[in-house]
Amino acid sequence: MRTDTGQIIHLADYRPTDFVLERVDLTFELDPTATKIEARLIFHRREGTDPTAPLILDGDELSLSGLLIDQNEIPAERYDVTAEKLVIRDLPESTPFEVTVITIINPEANTQLMGLYRTNGVYCTQCEAEGFRRITYFPDRPDVLAPYTITIIADKAANPLLLSNGNFLGGGNYDEGRHFAAWFDPHPKPSYLFALVAGDLGVVEDTFETMSGNEVALKIYVEHGKEPRAAYAMDALKRSMKWDEERFGREYDLNIFQIVAVSDFNMGAMENKGLNVFNDKYVLADPETATDQDYANIEAIIAHEYFHNWTGNRITCRDWFQLCLKEGLTVFRDHEFSADQRSRAVKRIAEVRHLKAEQFPEDAGPLAHPVRPTAYREINNFYTTTVYEKGSEVTRMIQTVLGRDTFKKGMDVYFERHDGDAATVEDFVKCFEDASGKDLKQFSLWYHQAGTPLVSVSTAYDSASQTFSVSLEQTVQATPGQPNKEPMHIPLGFALLLDNGSLASASSVKGGDVTGEVLHLTERAQTFTFGGIGSRPVLSLNRGFSAPINLHFEQSSTDLLHIVRHEPDLFARWQALTDLALPVLMKATRDVRDGRQPEPQAELIATLLEVAADDTLEPAFRAQVLALPSEADIAREFGSNNDPDAIHAARQGILADIAKAGQATFETLFTSLVNEGDFTPDAASAGRRALRNAALSYLSYLDGGATRAAEAFASTNNMTDTIQALTVLAHRFPGQSETANALGAFLKRFQDNALVLDKWFAIQATIPGASTLARVKALMEDPHFVASNPNRVRSLIGSFTFSNPTGFSRADGEGYRFLAQQILAIDPKNPQLAARLLTSMRSWRSLEPSRAAHAEAALSEIDKALSLSTDVRDIVERILK
Ligand code: PHE
Ligand code: ZN
Repeated sequence: MRTDTGQIIHLADYRPTDFVLERVDLTFELDPTATKIEARLIFHRREGTDPTAPLILDGDELSLSGLLIDQNEIPAERYDVTAEKLVIRDLPESTPFEVTVITIINPEANTQLMGLYRTNGVYCTQCEAEGFRRITYFPDRPDVLAPYTITIIADKAANPLLLSNGNFLGGGNYDEGRHFAAWFDPHPKPSYLFALVAGDLGVVEDTFETMSGNEVALKIYVEHGKEPRAAYAMDALKRSMKWDEERFGREYDLNIFQIVAVSDFNMGAMENKGLNVFNDKYVLADPETATDQDYANIEAIIAHEYFHNWTGNRITCRDWFQLCLKEGLTVFRDHEFSADQRSRAVKRIAEVRHLKAEQFPEDAGPLAHPVRPTAYREINNFYTTTVYEKGSEVTRMIQTVLGRDTFKKGMDVYFERHDGDAATVEDFVKCFEDASGKDLKQFSLWYHQAGTPLVSVSTAYDSASQTFSVSLEQTVQATPGQPNKEPMHIPLGFALLLDNGSLASASSVKGGDVTGEVLHLTERAQTFTFGGIGSRPVLSLNRGFSAPINLHFEQSSTDLLHIVRHEPDLFARWQALTDLALPVLMKATRDVRDGRQPEPQAELIATLLEVAADDTLEPAFRAQVLALPSEADIAREFGSNNDPDAIHAARQGILADIAKAGQATFETLFTSLVNEGDFTPDAASAGRRALRNAALSYLSYLDGGATRAAEAFASTNNMTDTIQALTVLAHRFPGQSETANALGAFLKRFQDNALVLDKWFAIQATIPGASTLARVKALMEDPHFVASNPNRVRSLIGSFTFSNPTGFSRADGEGYRFLAQQILAIDPKNPQLAARLLTSMRSWRSLEPSRAAHAEAALSEIDKALSLSTDVRDIVERILK
């Protein structure tokens, strides 16, 4: 583990390297504990730089075994080397020269899963962001681009497969039962996109013909025997390739595209050029073992990594501050892809739910940072929902501000102008300014100002003048390092709904810019006045979640109900239902906390049941509505002084009331929504399953709930229904024999399937209530718990800390102490995993004082540790500040 040095990297300090890298030639002699790497790097001094400047190469836990310049030994006084740095002096002023670096590393001992490591007997690399420097000394930064030639030598029996980026050059037998393969990637790339995989894996093959008629070989590698489970990923890949051609005119650019699924991986997947490496959770699926959510995730992540080929690889980032340039944009692209493959409105609801659940708390707490940060201590900690999801929303807003056609033109300019570049956010924005003729200076604040803007709204109708006015005021709260904020350009989709359900169109607008169905808030406070409005309309604002903001708009329940019934935009209907439900849930929480009996909520319940029973609405949408705001949503809405137990009890009470009032509806849904025929993972079938399972969940609040859930569990033919039934049993009836039996049966049936076991752990880790901590501790002793596997750690410990408010935040603080111990145990082995788990504490200040004190004490325990990784040190200090 690299311990923290306290060093901070600043965007303002960026400068290009003194040397230009022309070519990279790597030879790997693979061995589980002593892999030898010979790196031959051709450099020349950049014109106009200091002719005496030394060459500085990065390393991480490396030791140097050999160093040559132009194939000659180099005298000791010409270089300095440590585990982190190789500095070479007295290099040629103008001619290119070759540096040969030899290193020997131990993949087996690499528990951080950065650099070259072993997973289930397979050699695998992960280089983003700074993993390449754990393989060899190198200018390991994204603005150093070169073509790579790779030779891999390994024992043939153990490693029949030798893969790297680019096109296959050839291979053959070598000495002592070894063989070799050579690969050449003609597209200049930064080191973070390098990949190597070697081992013995099964393969699924297909081909794709690109729009200009090139045939691309497609290969997905998985463990032997799992080939049938890669079929859906292959299908998603081909659809992604087609979609990027149709929507953005982007064609694939090598003759082979490969994906390897591995079981030990810190993140979701990695877009290495021509050789994506995936967490196997986002590749493997079949009806028996994968849920609808798994299928949707696979589709989205396969697309995401494929789309990086243009947004990330062909055009990469100048430095890591520009991470959103590739990530925000690529998330936007994968969101659009999924929306086109499925139901756009339901997809949007899921996106916004995720954004609000993950990014809004980040932006409201101690870890808040701009989409384009200006300083970091550990780049691994900036792979955040702000960079990814808010970054995507910012891209979406560019499309909203410019319109779809002009946005597309701007993207064309970007691909044309920056292909082959390591670009910046400013470069990106400039393309849209040039394509549109618009000044996007104020808009760019979205990249630079952290925090979720709050827009307060009030409206007035004047029948005498037939005008309707909308007054808006924006504020952005202070965030770490940014006490004062400028007013932002907030594009607000809107509609004026009339009594008969039609949309009003104004004859005039005063007070600000309105384009089509978008109102542009650019001042701190602004009043828009619409003329020619014959009767008082209902305002539907921030339609489609056009801007990632919080709205403070006290709309009457009559107006909200009008939106629920008449808005053509389904997303806006869902939003209105949420706005109806949240105050009710909050009021009930206050009642519980203060020892009052919560009042019955007939109006909300009737509305929800009306939507649930409305067969004209798609089932997936109705399921989203029945899900109600989560406990975390309620906590976020309170913002401070949170008591998770009160929130849980209040929400459970309302769920039970809905169940009672809606018994007939839920019975009907549960019996009528059975899919006929074989399982298919398409969105429509998934939607029916979602609604049927929502019904099952409500029915569990009525007499015989456990029996019904146990029957449902016993009679499913797909993993979605199995998991839903098991969740209802475990979460609603944790102590009952039905639950113990179901958990036991499930374990017995799936104990050999790691991804399904992860679900078994996660369901138990999220059982509400204080006693779940003991269960989690016991499960850590279960022989199926594998502490070295990140998926398993996340499924048990991560699910508990991120998704179990009453369990993790139990009143005595034991949950936080448990997390602190786990962080200190995991950090020396896998700092990235530890740091990410620790972010589950990011909202500790919004807890009620006694829990907050426990949380602070646990964080201080971590902070006091003498040796912490940079990753954990960075998070703990920012969280505590
Ligand atoms: N770049 C990867 C992705 O989004 C994420 C990743 C980051 C993976 C760092 C591994 C390490 O798509
Ligand atoms: Zn990405």
